[in-house]
Amino acid sequence: MLDKKMQAALGEQATKEFYSAYLYMAMASHLEAQVLPGLAKWMRVQAQEESCHALIFFNYICERGSKVELGVIKAPPKDFKSVTEVFKHTVAHEREVTASIHGIAELAASIKDHATKQFLEWFVAEQVEEENAAETMLRQAARLEDDKALFLLDKEASARVFVLPAPLAGKV
Ligand code: FEO
Repeated sequence: MLDKKMQAALGEQATKEFYSAYLYMAMASHLEAQVLPGLAKWMRVQAQEESCHALIFFNYICERGSKVELGVIKAPPKDFKSVTEVFKHTVAHEREVTASIHGIAELAASIKDHATKQFLEWFVAEQVEEENAAETMLRQAARLEDDKALFLLDKEASARVFVLPAPLAGKV
């Protein structure tokens, strides 16, 4: 069974991951409305991954014999000034998620919850990838913010495919 503080922190993180999925679907909707289906697909895949992240936290809390306490998911923003703005928001959001996961890892260390510390290692590595992917898209979008170049970025982004995260193999 999880320590009460840890149970609350992990439940809160599951909620944050569901919010991430919601946020990226809001961005996908904005990009669809801008007739950028490739970039919208990139965001849809991102949202799928976030739902998986939420599920990984959910499953772990259950595996530890504790109850998942989900919180309120706020409404995501509806409009973005530009594609660059979308990815600026993505980078900022991913950095917040990284800080949140690091905070839980510190809590795990402080209460000597070695199992949770090890569980979080996958997320610590995943956040390095998540931040890098978002930063790369931001750098490209910022350089290419005109219609012709965005069309090319849109085509490239459409190649992104969803891959089930390893901790969910055989569990969904
Ligand atoms: Fe689940 Fe993008 O952090």
